Amino acid sequence: MAEIIIVRDPAEAGAIAADEIVRLISANPRTVLGLATGSTPLPVYEALRPRVAGLDVSQVRGFALDEYVGLDPAHPESYRSVISREVVEPLGLDPTLVRVPDGSLDGIEHAGDDYERVITEAGGVDLQILGIGTDGHIGFNEPGSSFASLTRVKTLTEQTREDNARFFDSVDDVPRHCITQGLGTIMRARHLVLLAFGEGKAEAVAGAVEGAVSASLPGSAIQLHPHATVLVDEAAASRLAHADYYRYAYANKPAWQGL
Ligand code: PGA
Repeated sequence: MAEIIIVRDPAEAGAIAADEIVRLISANPRTVLGLATGSTPLPVYEALRPRVAGLDVSQVRGFALDEYVGLDPAHPESYRSVISREVVEPLGLDPTLVRVPDGSLDGIEHAGDDYERVITEAGGVDLQILGIGTDGHIGFNEPGSSFASLTRVKTLTEQTREDNARFFDSVDDVPRHCITQGLGTIMRARHLVLLAFGEGKAEAVAGAVEGAVSASLPGSAIQLHPHATVLVDEAAASRLAHADYYRYAYANKPAWQGL
């Protein structure tokens, strides 16, 4: 099963994930990071800022999970813009080494295959940061997504569009389609680190961690991954049946085990 770590607040989760990323980069300057957008991963990027000062990140590579289809890449809420603003610029990464799926309509038929190829050529993702949607999606793999799926175009649920309306002037401005790494793509990453905060994520977290493994709750795919870590605050952990056991296991974790 995934390791579930119940943290005090998002900052603690960010610090735990950032420490592991720094450990990876220190051991391998060509570390490949899987980057997520949305509100959830922000504490990880914030925690990384002071930690990468003095670290050579010039060869670190990154792959975003997803992008809106048909949104101008220069739009402030395109994931290309978000990744530049939240990750590449503050951490001083080389922008040419950080990729986001190409959501432009021109060439959309082969954009998924192209993205799979560049991830493979980079040697695969070492650590994939994940959020989870209130409908259980990871990446933009909405309910019903195949566990074998690779990067492709998906239709966003109305729930996801409403959840993301806060980034736009109105829900009508949220694109209907996206291009997202598939569940199969995500499962190839060597380590998954899923974060979730707040009561609104409690049901999705419980389903993903303790529910049936089902395409109806795409986040449940993490139960099939050999190395998955779930960092949740008390509110997001509030529907977990085995929360006491997770706390006990973490409190008694052998020091040699790492994250
Ligand atoms: P959020 O989105 O971090 O903005 O809540 C999570 C997700 O949709 O994966």
